[in-house]
Amino acid sequence: MAPASSSSTVPQPGRSGTSIRRGTEIREAFLTFYAERGHARLPSASLVPEDPTVLLTIAGMVPFKPVFLGQAERPAARATSSQKCIRTNDIENVGRTTRHHTFFEMLGNFSFGDYFKEQAIVWAWQLSTQVFALDPDHLVVSVFREDDESFRIWRDVVGVAPRRIVRLGEDDNFWASGPTGPCGPCSELYYDFRPGDGDEPLNLEDEDRFIEFYNLVFMQYNRDAKGTLTPLANRNIDTGMGLERMARILQKVPNNYETDLLLPLIEAAAALAGVDYRHQDESVRTSLKVIADHSRAITHLIADGVTASNLGRGYILRRLLRRVIRHGRQIGIEDPFLPVMGDAAIHLMAEAYPILRDRQEEIRSELVREEARFLETLERGEKLLAQILAAEPACISGEQAFELYDTYGFPLELTEEIAEEHGV
Ligand code: GLY
Repeated sequence: MAPASSSSTVPQPGRSGTSIRRGTEIREAFLTFYAERGHARLPSASLVPEDPTVLLTIAGMVPFKPVFLGQAERPAARATSSQKCIRTNDIENVGRTTRHHTFFEMLGNFSFGDYFKEQAIVWAWQLSTQVFALDPDHLVVSVFREDDESFRIWRDVVGVAPRRIVRLGEDDNFWASGPTGPCGPCSELYYDFRPGDGDEPLNLEDEDRFIEFYNLVFMQYNRDAKGTLTPLANRNIDTGMGLERMARILQKVPNNYETDLLLPLIEAAAALAGVDYRHQDESVRTSLKVIADHSRAITHLIADGVTASNLGRGYILRRLLRRVIRHGRQIGIEDPFLPVMGDAAIHLMAEAYPILRDRQEEIRSELVREEARFLETLERGEKLLAQILAAEPACISGEQAFELYDTYGFPLELTEEIAEEHGV
């Protein structure tokens, strides 16, 4: 479903730009900025992609892959969307770092064989510095090592000082949605929380100092299974701005979780556990953040038709649900609570994604069913695992881990997590 639309106009430089703070305002300002520049405003596609080669929608460009590849008609020459996305490749980092999520919203502007590098760069800069009113002294950009053209545009057209333009290699600045398919060099905008620390050297990997918030992909190639790059018929633009990241910057909070996009869910979980998030140690805070993050993911997945199972995206849903329950138990939530978190997530996000309200009953029943099923499995498995880990020296063999999974249905990743908590 599309984020709710409104007729508000983009604030002008130096006037109301600085008033944009809330997640809904950021989403609206982005989409309006590009709509006013001729982009068709498209609704978010489902988390379940039409493309059978991809399990979940992991970026704003996923629904447009066939367009980039010339296999489908373009919906418009230019488009903009706020796409719901799920990535689980970094699931262990969720709640532990300031900025990793499973569910997130990606704001994007796309050109399908229409404008290219210079226009994309200039608009990205204007949006960042005029609409979101970011101080240019706090911005750093990166370009692909060999992309002299982007370097020149940033330096000569936008006026960024060369020492604030960092050249990076393929790992950082060549973007692809998967091992094969459309791809291209990219240029990223970073927010620098401590420009006073100087420019030499600029280490963009320093996550305390920098956060990458906007990626501009110059979608030019199709990569085949052998790694060969073939130029696409059109030169395209695919961008992604993390809504949660921009909210963190504008709301001046220490991590994405304390923005208005997630904090209400942390507070809902904290209320269930009878704790105050602000006065907890790091491990309780991490559990609260995991619960908040995954609650958004599971409600959206179920709304988009996914049901828990042991396969594919059904397994991803099951894994996320089970992690919520485990973290809830870790912070003292004893009673079933998933439906309460589901309702809180729906309440928070239904204005932007009305499908959540439409599917509220289905979401609730799936959460009730899966929670009951897992609590049984969990109690049995945890008892067995505690016995295994109580031995001296504490150790768990592959055979025991397999038996827990195979005979008792206790997930391997939970065995791993619990063993790790015991230093095993
Ligand atoms: N498609 C651009 C990104 O995900 O960063």
